[in-house]
Amino acid sequence: MSETPSRNAPQRVALVTGAAGGLGREFAATLARRGHRVAGLDLADMSETAELIGDAFHPVRADVTDPDEVESAVAEVAARFGGLHIVVNNAGIYPPLEFEKTTLEDWRRIMRVNLDGPFLVTSAALPYLKAAGWGRIVNIVSAVVFLGPPDLVAYTTSKAGLVGFTRALSSAVGEYGITVNAIAPGLTRTETAARTTGADGGFERVRDLQVVRAIEEPGDLVSTLLYVVDEGSGFLTGQTINIDGGSAKH
Ligand SMILES: NC(=O)c1ccc[n+]([C@@H]2O[C@H](COP(=O)([O-])OP(=O)(O)OC[C@H]3O[C@@H](n4cnc5c(N)ncnc54)[C@H](O)[C@@H]3O)[C@@H](O)[C@H]2O)c1
Repeated sequence: MSETPSRNAPQRVALVTGAAGGLGREFAATLARRGHRVAGLDLADMSETAELIGDAFHPVRADVTDPDEVESAVAEVAARFGGLHIVVNNAGIYPPLEFEKTTLEDWRRIMRVNLDGPFLVTSAALPYLKAAGWGRIVNIVSAVVFLGPPDLVAYTTSKAGLVGFTRALSSAVGEYGITVNAIAPGLTRTETAARTTGADGGFERVRDLQVVRAIEEPGDLVSTLLYVVDEGSGFLTGQTINIDGGSAKH
């Protein structure tokens, strides 16, 4: 799948975590269509994403919570494509959990994937972005940070942490020509969302609370991703952009 990239736009190398399906697959395909070379990092099989994108895609199997696996996955991507410029920290888990039934292990598992993961991937990628003197780090958070739903307390806490990470990291790496921003989707129709948060009419309930009365689809996020990683967006950093059909006014 290829689309002629805009004239004069450099071809960048992007790494998308959680690219086996859902939003990550959409993000990887979007970046590839824009002419970037794209690697996916996931625990799960990425063959459907590879089939969709073709030669511009390089899948690397790794667990974002494992420092050694992340380190070698990022090094493999940089070696394969000759560098790294764009990191989309998308891998995440969002199991609905009653707060009063949440164990310390549940809590830690959610923090490990949703917070340790972006920390490890970003730390491993940073030397390559610094060497390039240009970078875009995009953290996928969630509109729950503005809404605070009762069954997602641990998840909301993890994504709010990632908003803090976005803000402070933007200050730490700005001098290297690297921007750091977060995108906060509302409930979006992916297979995982359909199995969990969106089950039993959840998509329709959320749609009816939105200003935009439609169910959010992965494709509704791509223009924001392209905006954030654009060559011309160097002054956009430390921000969290909420794309939830107007449920939270932020
Ligand atoms: N779909 C929504 O409604 C929605 C809304 C707001 C935010 N988000 C966020 O968007 C991201 C993607 O969500 P999605 O709906 O596409 O879910 P998804 O389950 O389809 O995608 C998540 C991917 O992350 C991978 N992953 C999970 N743990 C991993 C680990 N330890 N190491 C490597 N890969 C791992 C999974 O294998 C999966 O492919 C998540 O961070 C989620 O919190 C989703």
